Amino acid sequence: MDDIVIDGGKPLSGEVTISGAKNAALPILAATILTGGRFTFHNVPRLKDIESIQHLLVSMGAEFVRDGHTVHVDTSNLKDYEAPYEQVRKMRASILVLGPLLARMKRARVSLPGGCAIGARPIDLHLNGLSILGADIKLEHGYVEAAAKRLKGGEIYLDLPTVTGTENLMMAGVLAKGVTVLRNAAREPEITALADVLNAMGADISGAGSPVITISGVKKLKPVTATIIPDRIEAGTFMVAAALTKGDILIKKCDPSHVEAIIHKIEKSGAAVEVSENSVRVKGGEAINSVDVKTMPYPGFATDMQAQFMVLMSVANGFSVISENIFENRFIHVSELKRMGADITISGSHAMIKGRPALSGAPVMATDLRASASLILAGLVAKGTTRVSRVYHLDRGYESLEKKFKKLGAAIKRVRGGS
Ligand code: UD1
Repeated sequence: MDDIVIDGGKPLSGEVTISGAKNAALPILAATILTGGRFTFHNVPRLKDIESIQHLLVSMGAEFVRDGHTVHVDTSNLKDYEAPYEQVRKMRASILVLGPLLARMKRARVSLPGGCAIGARPIDLHLNGLSILGADIKLEHGYVEAAAKRLKGGEIYLDLPTVTGTENLMMAGVLAKGVTVLRNAAREPEITALADVLNAMGADISGAGSPVITISGVKKLKPVTATIIPDRIEAGTFMVAAALTKGDILIKKCDPSHVEAIIHKIEKSGAAVEVSENSVRVKGGEAINSVDVKTMPYPGFATDMQAQFMVLMSVANGFSVISENIFENRFIHVSELKRMGADITISGSHAMIKGRPALSGAPVMATDLRASASLILAGLVAKGTTRVSRVYHLDRGYESLEKKFKKLGAAIKRVRGGS
């Protein structure tokens, strides 16, 4: 396993280009299951999670060819309808194949994901929605066994605006007989991106990006060529890096409209933000102000940015409170940040942070994807050397993060085969 070693204290400056969004690419790649033929996708990030969905699609009989950031997927000869435990264990988002498999193959056998480091993360809303669409669902031997001759439209109210749940049900609904209405649907940009691809394939979806999505079932879909939207969480991570190191970073090829909540908080923390059509420039201020944050479904502040923003608050002037409202156990980065000198107290879903003048470098361990990014950010601002181990979490969701930071002036390197 690799480690990342950082000598902190250097202000970061220059330009960085944002990669395609992992969370947009995953459902779009799963959507290729819906019909046979050759799809082409541009701006597909090079990530472990993309490799995971690639292995899954290939195990079902798809052809998958990567050429740089372009990916060709041919699902003409799909034979299998199973997502085995070994795959789902590596990546929970493998559950995204459930809806499309059921729609095209009439059957699906998908391992139950189980809990993960950040919370229980059930899939009851996915399953409840699919049964409203007429699927016969059994849970046996740790697997979801689902079958439906042809799914039929239905009214689904989601108790929570689940992101992958909304995506799964949208994909199940496109080939169903009749109209499906998803109420209290997730509104994340990745939902809109998936709906755009599905509509280009011949689906009839309206309302994506709003809480009510209407899907009129169609009989046939066709393969398409599409480009993956930029990763708003990667963009947000670099925004924090600029504010944190009091640097000046031009974040290129991002969609500023997707990061409005982050921009708002970064500005309140004292950094200057300049927004252009496809870029955001963040210039760190003299001092970092403390700012309270509550994570919320989009367009609120993303839970996937909570750990990174906490690092900024760890070196702010004064107290701040960060409330995590999406996942019940998403403060696992806190104990590692405390080892670097951060003054953080957890009470239920709230983290009380007393800003300190500086953090100090330490050996720390990454526990999940966004926690890894937060530890690297902490290392960038800490005095001395930080060694972040178990960075395979990072490779699941950030493309060449350490290389991008290095180009911006960070003293950072990857040590192969570390701890
Ligand atoms: C997606 C993102 C993840 C992000 C999360 C929240 C992908 C691949 N992953 O994950 O990066 O952190 O959204 O923005 O897009 N829930 C239920 N029952 C369900 C489904 C969800 O109770 O059937 C709960 C979850 O436990 C959680 C909340 O709903 O408390 C939101 O989770 P959800 O939006 O489903 O997250 P994911 O789609 O797994």
